Amino acid sequence: MKNLENKVAFVTGGSKGIGYGVAAALSSMGVRVGITSRHREEAEKAAKEITKNGKGEVIGMEADVRNFESQQAAIKQLIDKWGQLDVVVANAGVGHFGSIEDLTPEQWQQTIDTNLTGVFYSLKASIPQLKKSKGYIFTISSLAGTNFFAGGSAYNASKFGVTGFTQAAMLDLRNYDIKVTTIMPGSVATHFNDHSPGDEDAWKIQKEDIGELVVDLLKMNQRALPSKIEIRPTKPPKK
Ligand SMILES: NC(=O)c1ccc[n+]([C@@H]2O[C@H](COP(=O)([O-])OP(=O)(O)OC[C@H]3O[C@@H](n4cnc5c(N)ncnc54)[C@H](OP(=O)(O)O)[C@@H]3O)[C@@H](O)[C@H]2O)c1
Repeated sequence: MKNLENKVAFVTGGSKGIGYGVAAALSSMGVRVGITSRHREEAEKAAKEITKNGKGEVIGMEADVRNFESQQAAIKQLIDKWGQLDVVVANAGVGHFGSIEDLTPEQWQQTIDTNLTGVFYSLKASIPQLKKSKGYIFTISSLAGTNFFAGGSAYNASKFGVTGFTQAAMLDLRNYDIKVTTIMPGSVATHFNDHSPGDEDAWKIQKEDIGELVVDLLKMNQRALPSKIEIRPTKPPKK
């Protein structure tokens, strides 16, 4: 996609964090973007802010990735408004961390339903449109999708799952000229796990860095497909 102007993107979990950064980067290139969150007001507030500072219009929608029909409804809203869908960023995610002894079945379920099944639902609902546009799908996995750690059982399971799911989907969809990339970030300064980003997060990847990466990948020649990308802070604090 050499020229991104007037393309249409769907970004799940765009009210804050990485999704916000990606939506802002896309809007600055003239892409029209629909962002979602479980909370309508927050999605609409973020959309207004990004539109004000960007170029392409952004709209906010309430849509829970754990519900397939709500993914279909959000995509229908974009098609009714703009008539096409070119880019999907399956980003929404949550984290519950703790030893398996302390992790509750509800926390396990929410992590898997959001981070893994939610990604499947967002992709599944968008494929018919992406086949028409020869579009591009990004999933936001994590370095936790390849490195496991104590206290990470649910999150590791969800992100290892997303990494494997995305690679298989890439092989299924490239025959339609749909590109699929999974991005696996290390620490990013966001609101993840109820964190409030501040000065002490300056060493981390910033949300706009992931936005820049997505734009660069979209502009890459159609014949080349980086299918899995690890991105990490250049200089993390010494342990
Ligand atoms: N931060 C990191 O260091 C890091 C590193 C690697 C990977 N990641 C991944 O990056 C993705 C984004 O996380 P983030 O760091 O940007 O976190 P964040 O700042 O907490 O943002 C998460 C976004 O997802 C939305 N969301 C959560 N559950 C949802 C659901 N069921 N349906 C729709 N939207 C939902 C949130 O909005 P509502 O709460 O209003 O629904 C919010 O917009 C996640 O998949 C995360 O695992 C993060």
